[in-house]
Amino acid sequence: MISQQTIQQILSRIDIIEVVGGFVRLKKRGTNYLGLCPFHNEKSPSFTVSPVKEIYKCFGCGRSGNTISFLMEHEKYSYAEALRWLAAKYNVEIEEKEQSPEVRQQQQVADSLYILNGFAQKWFHDTLLSSEEGQDIGLSYLRERGFNDDIIRKFQLGYSPEQRDAFARAALAAQYNLEYLQKSGLVVVRDERPLDNYRGRIIFPIHSQTGKTIGFGARIIKSNDRAPKYINTPENEIYIKSKILYGSWLARQAIDKQDECLLVEGYTDVVSLHQAGVENVVASGGTSLTVDQLRLIKKYTNHLTIIYDGDGAGIKAALRGLDMALEESLDVKLVLIPDREDPDSYVRKVGAAAFREFVATAKKDFILFQLEVALKDAAGDTTKRAEVVNQVAETIARINKAEDFTKRQDYIRQCSEILRIEETGLHALVNKFIRERIAKQESKAASASTPSFQQTDGMSLQQEGAPEMPGPDDEDSINLLFKHEQNERGMIRSLLDFGLRPWDENTSVADYILAESSDFYDLIDNRRLVKILDIYKAWYEEGLEPTVKNFLYHEDQELSTLAVSIMDFHHELSLNWKEHFEGKIATRDDLYKEDVISTIGYLKLRKIKRLMEENQQDLSKPHTDEEQMVLLQTHIHLKQLERDLLLHLGTVIIK
Ligand code: UTP
Ligand code: MN
Repeated sequence: MISQQTIQQILSRIDIIEVVGGFVRLKKRGTNYLGLCPFHNEKSPSFTVSPVKEIYKCFGCGRSGNTISFLMEHEKYSYAEALRWLAAKYNVEIEEKEQSPEVRQQQQVADSLYILNGFAQKWFHDTLLSSEEGQDIGLSYLRERGFNDDIIRKFQLGYSPEQRDAFARAALAAQYNLEYLQKSGLVVVRDERPLDNYRGRIIFPIHSQTGKTIGFGARIIKSNDRAPKYINTPENEIYIKSKILYGSWLARQAIDKQDECLLVEGYTDVVSLHQAGVENVVASGGTSLTVDQLRLIKKYTNHLTIIYDGDGAGIKAALRGLDMALEESLDVKLVLIPDREDPDSYVRKVGAAAFREFVATAKKDFILFQLEVALKDAAGDTTKRAEVVNQVAETIARINKAEDFTKRQDYIRQCSEILRIEETGLHALVNKFIRERIAKQESKAASASTPSFQQTDGMSLQQEGAPEMPGPDDEDSINLLFKHEQNERGMIRSLLDFGLRPWDENTSVADYILAESSDFYDLIDNRRLVKILDIYKAWYEEGLEPTVKNFLYHEDQELSTLAVSIMDFHHELSLNWKEHFEGKIATRDDLYKEDVISTIGYLKLRKIKRLMEENQQDLSKPHTDEEQMVLLQTHIHLKQLERDLLLHLGTVIIK
């Protein structure tokens, strides 16, 4: 692990123009630099790099990031690899961080498992190719299924003999330790005897992104009702099922190049497709997709095409994970293989060219596909149809990143056509689901934190449980949501940009923002922004001086992406203070205090409005006279707070 000091040193040396300029020819245009985007094909340059903000953005394909994410994306480096590359470039000596004993221990276990798996992989592979039993049983089975020798070598397939402890003996003789043999799932101990776990099976080694063997899938050869078809490696330090996609180590370049990832169910589907020359393919192992797997895919492409057999079970499992894909802004398409075939048997039957052609033409949009299936199910039943409408609206509502706005509009249009309903009606419904989701997140966050508004007598105004969020029912609500979010982002941007500047003689802008934001902390919609706030606070309290850079280059890609988008080129605060100061056009930099005051003011007002709504609801319930009094006083108090705040702010920001 690289120490924080080293990271700081590296970050302070970074010159984005120099680094990106090493891969892309850049020309100066005003304060920015312009070049041909390395991430998509273009004839006229729309790839923009800002040396001041230290970020790049392509206005053609929308990719954006910082120096480190550029290296990660362009060179496919990991975060640590990118740092090491920069350290070498700028002659920064790397100081490794002391690891905690637990981390070191875990790493040792992981290292031992890698080595053991490497040994096992080779042993199974040799046994398949060179032993008599391997050839007679294993190899002949694979050949019968049509796998050629090249593909068997490429995927390092193997064979585990029928003898009860052939592998265990070999491993123990080679000094491998029994504890690790059990942890790896290769050996089980019965009656104090070490026994092979994959006896008489074909071995599919499973690899990490970088090609290390992390586990195995072992397929039975003679079908047998009592034994499972596949035995897989148990979860351990290096085999974490939710993060694995079979074949990704061989597919990553093809996925990148073709800008599409095909997803199939089985090991044999992947191997077969490779043999047919289709290499941008990975397998999920027949379970529903996890967020980690989706993110892995997203590293290489935004286009996921799921190819499953048409008979149901698998497709249901696959569909389950897919709403998450929408939240990750992945484009998901679906292909169903007909006639009870799977991709393996189908590509053998029709050949590679016809297979590709089939995938290209049979590809269906995931949302529209789901809608069609559900509609067919509902047939003429009106209640069921209404449910379908709700379902589709809920799914569309998951496409809620600001940059996916057009995509969402398109879906609303297409789905309303298929459903034969009013587009505006579906639109309103989708907005309702978005609001509900946000309200749910809010109340979850609110009930998790302590009430932040206390009355003088100490009685809390916060209601028990989740308050129903009363909201406007028209489309304006969506603009409203965006406005909240913009102000939240504005606050974080001010914190990152101006946090270390003075607020008054004794305090900094950060002191001010951190103190003031605690008033409405629980109302911040975007929880990732809260994370930035939390991290900033922790660092700041430790005496560090966090800047934009610490977040732009944060190891957590989600945070660094968010930081990039907060600092984005065209991002302007929604506030109108520019017009407000006549004559001289002041920059945000000159007026940072006004900037902070209006953003915070807006968010505080929102909190007050919320408290008033809650109080109002409370008032409408039966109460004793005394309670009624307290609630009324609260109302008056809140009204006063609101008035003071408005007065203080001027009415500039409140529409
Ligand atoms: P399939 O039954 O479709 O297997 O399961 P397959 O890979 O196509 O194998 P062949 O063609 O019949 O030889 C799909 C995937 O589900 C997982 C495996 O990852 C398999 O590749 N699976 C299946 C298991 O983990 N355990 C099982 O018992 C069955
Ligand atoms: Mn199969």
